[in-house]
Amino acid sequence: MTKVLIAYGSKHGSTAEVAERLASVLRDASSDVVAINLAEVRKSSWPKPADFDACIIGSCIRIEKWLKPMRKYVAKHKEALSGKPLGIFVVSLSVCAGKDGHAKEKYVKDFIAENGLDANLSAAFGGVLDISKDSNLSGMMRKIMQAAADDMRKDSGLDIKENEKNDFRDWEQIEQFARDFSSLLKNPQ
Ligand SMILES: Cc1cc2nc3c(=O)[nH]c(=O)nc-3n(C[C@H](O)[C@H](O)[C@H](O)COP(=O)(O)O)c2cc1C
Repeated sequence: MTKVLIAYGSKHGSTAEVAERLASVLRDASSDVVAINLAEVRKSSWPKPADFDACIIGSCIRIEKWLKPMRKYVAKHKEALSGKPLGIFVVSLSVCAGKDGHAKEKYVKDFIAENGLDANLSAAFGGVLDISKDSNLSGMMRKIMQAAADDMRKDSGLDIKENEKNDFRDWEQIEQFARDFSSLLKNPQ
């Protein structure tokens, strides 16, 4: 069985659910998958890419950046990551707010170039904007995200509902990414 590592960074859980869906599709296609949120695990327990046949790395975007633990992980393991099949994804709101090009350029392409990675597959997925009363955001952060939601509505006409969890993830796109990665493992280029 091909051993696949999905190392990701998620703050409020939506990227974690994306990573779990990728893992589930890959498991159905007979891969042995470890999916781990590096933002929740001590650095000393982070897995090594060298112990896997292939890796997928991903992060949610916060203030234009990958989460810090992911940036640290990639900087530390960039050689090992590039020596095997590598998939890269981000989860972001720009993708669904009419800035798909910005997300692919800045969060994916620039990140790959900055770290000298050799990625076989990459994608920018839409994320979740939770401005409901039950969201994990602090009062101040919720206000900031509500203001961001107003801007997004104005700029892109995106249908963002007030006081709701707005989920812009496209599960078909996410599952297709996993199927493409699985094909890559079965037919290495
Ligand atoms: C404080 C904060 C800052 C964010 N900054 C950006 C950003 O700069 N660009 C972007 O496209 N999305 C941004 N987002 C949207 C997140 O990437 C999106 O909500 C994602 O689904 C969060 O993933 P998580 O639930 O795994 O933490 C931001 C979200 C929050 C809460």
